[in-house]
Amino acid sequence: MLDVLDIRSRFPALQRFANGKTPVFLDGPGGTQVPLVVIEAITDYLTRCNANTRGGFTTSRETDVVLRHAHEAVADLLNASFPEEIVFGQNMTTLALHLSRSLGRTWKPGEPVVVTRLDHDANVRPWLLAAADAQAEVRFVSVREDGSLDEDDFNRKIIGAKFFALTCASNATGTMPDVVRLTHRAKEAGALVALDAVHYAPHGVIDVQHWGCDIVLCSAYKFFGPHVGILWARRDILESLFAYKVRPAPETLPGRWMTGTQNHEGVAGVGACVEYLAGLGHGSTRRQQIVDAMTAIREYESSLGAQLLSGLRAKPGVKIWGSQTMAGRAPTIAITVQGQNAADVAARLWGDEVYCWAGHFYALELAEAMGVLPQGGFVRLGLVHYNTPEEVQRVLRLL
Ligand SMILES: Cc1ncc(COP(=O)(O)O)c(C=O)c1O
Repeated sequence: MLDVLDIRSRFPALQRFANGKTPVFLDGPGGTQVPLVVIEAITDYLTRCNANTRGGFTTSRETDVVLRHAHEAVADLLNASFPEEIVFGQNMTTLALHLSRSLGRTWKPGEPVVVTRLDHDANVRPWLLAAADAQAEVRFVSVREDGSLDEDDFNRKIIGAKFFALTCASNATGTMPDVVRLTHRAKEAGALVALDAVHYAPHGVIDVQHWGCDIVLCSAYKFFGPHVGILWARRDILESLFAYKVRPAPETLPGRWMTGTQNHEGVAGVGACVEYLAGLGHGSTRRQQIVDAMTAIREYESSLGAQLLSGLRAKPGVKIWGSQTMAGRAPTIAITVQGQNAADVAARLWGDEVYCWAGHFYALELAEAMGVLPQGGFVRLGLVHYNTPEEVQRVLRLL
C-alpha cells in the first residue's frame, strides 16, 4: 500500500500554491514533478564533486562513483544484465536518432522496418530516416477505431521484418499493447525489437530480460527524475554496432555511446530518482524493492484511474479515447468534449490551476487516425502516483 500523503510531502512542487489554489498536476505525461532527494542529489553533485570523469583526483573519482551508481541503479530499474548496457544522453529522442543512424547501416535495400501508428514520433521518425538512408521498406502497423494496436495487421506486417519499434504505452491514450506477446512474435519473425518505455516507465515494472526485447528507451523526467534520456540495448548490440563517436572517446561500453561530456548532475539525479522509487517498496535487493514499488504504484493508479474513467463516462458529451476501463491502459486519459476545441477545454482547467495538456503530444499518427486534429487534438489527463482521489473529484467537478 502506498502512503500517498507521505509521498506528496516529499515533492516540493506539490506544496506550492498558485493564485490562491493548490495546483493539480495532471501534466505528468509531459514531465513529472521531482522529489527533494533528487533535487538534493543534483545540488550535491554540483556543490561537492563537479568534475570530468576518469581523473585521479578526488572530485573526478567521486564523479565516476556517482555515474557508476546511476548506471547500476538504472540497470536495476530495467532489469538489465549489465550496468554498462545503460547509456545516458540528452533525451529519448536524441538517443533514438543517434542509435537509428548506426542501426540503419545494418539494413539493406528492401528489408522491412516496422513501426506503428500508436507511437510517439520519437519512436517512428528516427527509424523512418534510417530506413530512407538504407532504402529499406517501411511498414506501418495500424490502430483500430478504439485506438488499440491492430494485431491482425501486425501479424501481416511483421513477416520478414528486420526491425520493429513499439511503444509500451501510448503517451496520448494510455493504451498498453501486450509488449511481451508482440515482442515474442516479432523475434520469431527475425526482427530486432526496440521498445519505447518513456510513457510506461512511471506506471509499471520494466523487465527487459523477461520482455525479450533488444532495445528500450526511456526518459527520467517522465519518472520523477531530471531531463536525462536513457537507452538500454543488449550488450552484443552495443558492442557490435558502428558507434558515431570521436576518436579519443572510449571503445568500451557505455562510453562508446555516451557522446561528449554528459550532464553529470542530471545523471546523479537519475540515480537518486531510482533510489526514491526503490524506497517505496520492500525487498532484500534494490531490484526487488523496485518491482514491489512499481507493483504498488500500478495498483494505486489503477484504482485512481478507474475513478476518473467512471466519472468521465457519466458526463454527456465527453468522449474517452482508448480503453474505457483500466484494463490494458495507463492512467493517462485522453478525452474530447463534443463541440469544443481541446485547447479551450484545457484553458478552462488551467484557469482553476489544473495542469494538463491539449494537442497531439507528438503521437501524430494516432491523432490523425482518430480524426481529432480538427478540434485541436485530445485533452490529456495524466495521473501518476502522487495524484489523489480528491484531485480526481476536483477535475470531474470542473469538467
Ligand atoms: C511515449 C514517448 N516517447 C518518446 C518521447 C520523447 O521523449 P524525450 O522528450 O525524452 O525525447 C515522449 C515524450 O513525450 C513520449 O511520451
